Amino acid sequence: FSKWAFFKGAVKFGTVAFIGYGAYEMYEHRHPTAQTEYDPSKKTIVVLGSGWASTSFLKAVDTDEYNVVVVSPRNYFLFTPLLPSCTVGTVDVRSIVEPIRFITRHKSRAVKVYEAECTDIDPDNKVITIVDNSDVKGTKDESTISYDYLVIGVGAQNQTFGIKGVQEYGCFLKEVWDAQKIRNKLMDCIETAGFPGQSPEEVERLLHMTIVGGGPSGIEYAAELHDFLMDDLSTWYPDLAGKIKITLVEALPNVLPAFSKQLIDYTESTFKEQNITIHTKTMVKEVREKEIVVQRPDGSNESIPYGLLVWATGNTSRPLIRDLMNKFPESQTARRGLAVDDWLRLEGSESIFALGDATATKYAPTAQVAAQQGKYLARLFHQMTVRDQLESQVATVPEEERAKKERKLQKAKDLKPFQYSHQGSLCYVGSDKAIADLPFGPGSVSSGGVMTYAFWRSAYISNLFSGRNRSLVITDWLKKNILGRDISRE
Ligand code: FAD
Ligand code: NAI
Repeated sequence: FSKWAFFKGAVKFGTVAFIGYGAYEMYEHRHPTAQTEYDPSKKTIVVLGSGWASTSFLKAVDTDEYNVVVVSPRNYFLFTPLLPSCTVGTVDVRSIVEPIRFITRHKSRAVKVYEAECTDIDPDNKVITIVDNSDVKGTKDESTISYDYLVIGVGAQNQTFGIKGVQEYGCFLKEVWDAQKIRNKLMDCIETAGFPGQSPEEVERLLHMTIVGGGPSGIEYAAELHDFLMDDLSTWYPDLAGKIKITLVEALPNVLPAFSKQLIDYTESTFKEQNITIHTKTMVKEVREKEIVVQRPDGSNESIPYGLLVWATGNTSRPLIRDLMNKFPESQTARRGLAVDDWLRLEGSESIFALGDATATKYAPTAQVAAQQGKYLARLFHQMTVRDQLESQVATVPEEERAKKERKLQKAKDLKPFQYSHQGSLCYVGSDKAIADLPFGPGSVSSGGVMTYAFWRSAYISNLFSGRNRSLVITDWLKKNILGRDISRE
């Protein structure tokens, strides 16, 4: 029995186990068990949002203990780490979303889901206002919901720093429709550049793809665009592909400020090899229809013509969050978002909890933090139920059992604060290379290259929401390798 035979056997077994597990997961999703109904004797938690924070909370919350209502303007969870891949068709957007009802249908008690936007929170009366902001509206499109506890996981919106023209002419990269818009606009620029008689200056402008912001979003988009250019556009547009230029503009002295120096250097040199120009210490001051105005390191202003502009300069609070902060002028003074205590309770309120990008904590606004906070909060809610039950029992139990119950109550009252466990940072940099800063003992290890990309892929596959997502993304990757990416516009 050779090592080779053992290896082949292990691979076969692994494949069968993977397919079997995927099939079982998908079958389970299609055939959930019966659910109990709303119970007026239980407290009601209203959850805002269906992103990383809220979804992780929903997955873990015990609906035997609470009634749960979800309000979100999008009825699905989006796996954001693979969104940059959707801008060029490496992965299909449908492969990385999962309807929120897939989670709620599997809870022991029926969860109400409303596709709506929360437009107002009234903390005094514990009521929220919700509005149907979708295209199709019925005769009623506004309503109110009462809560005992409110969990705010509405994330953040794109930061523009109020720079003129960004909203009007820039493309963001946060939601499914942003990726679709970028993909369409990119192909439109290329097709328009091929229009007969287009002047050389106009071709140059149309084929100048500009990205503002050298954080992980901007870097990953530039990397995906480079791959699309090399793998597909060069074949389909042989006359134009050589003229396509990618430029990234970053206000700081280097890109990826959150990564180690070694990985910043690696990314910058990889971009150089890929002919992606990086302008550091360069700040965009204004965006016009066909050009951006930047301030150079020496203080001079320069206009750069562009065809496609992707704006990725981070997050700012949503209007709903700013309104809520104004209702707590004394305790809500953080600039980045909602201030919460170590138990994720909103400073100034006993019944509101907040998590993820909507909050201003010492942690970076990442999916990792949001997901861990969601899981933690669900555990906290469970412990709060245990504590409340024990509290009511202590008064009624016979004298001889009271001391034991009181000890248990003391333990249940000891609510542990949230503690974040960093699992590392990953970023794709193009040409099948990724970078990773991974925690190791008291420090961290940095790695970059093709092997790190293999790790990047396996990490994302294992973190995807469901077996359905995993099989679709793997299929998309295979499809891209065999058939190439689709260049048609939607
Ligand atoms: P979100 O996931 O943004 O969810 C917010 C939810 O609230 C949405 O469902 C939204 O529809 C809903 N909502 C909005 N307004 C309202 C309202 N008024 N009422 C009710 N609901 C509302 N992080 C990582 O750790 N690793 C990565 O690789 C990574 N890659 C990323 C790639 C991209 C392109 C982007 C944009 C981000 C990436 N992030 C990554 C960051 C990560 O996506 C965010 O930190 C994370 O999504 C925050 O989770 P959240 O639940 O707070 O907000
Ligand atoms: P970011 O905040 O990380 O980076 C934005 C960059 O834009 C900054 O470097 C800033 O200096 C620059 N900038 C701001 N204004 C500018 C201007 N006027 N001109 C030029 N440059 C300007 O934002 P990003 O990339 O959108 O990420 C948001 C969050 O999501 C971060 O916490 C990030 O870690 C996380 N994320 C993580 C990913 C990963 O782990 N692979 C991928 C994408 C996002």
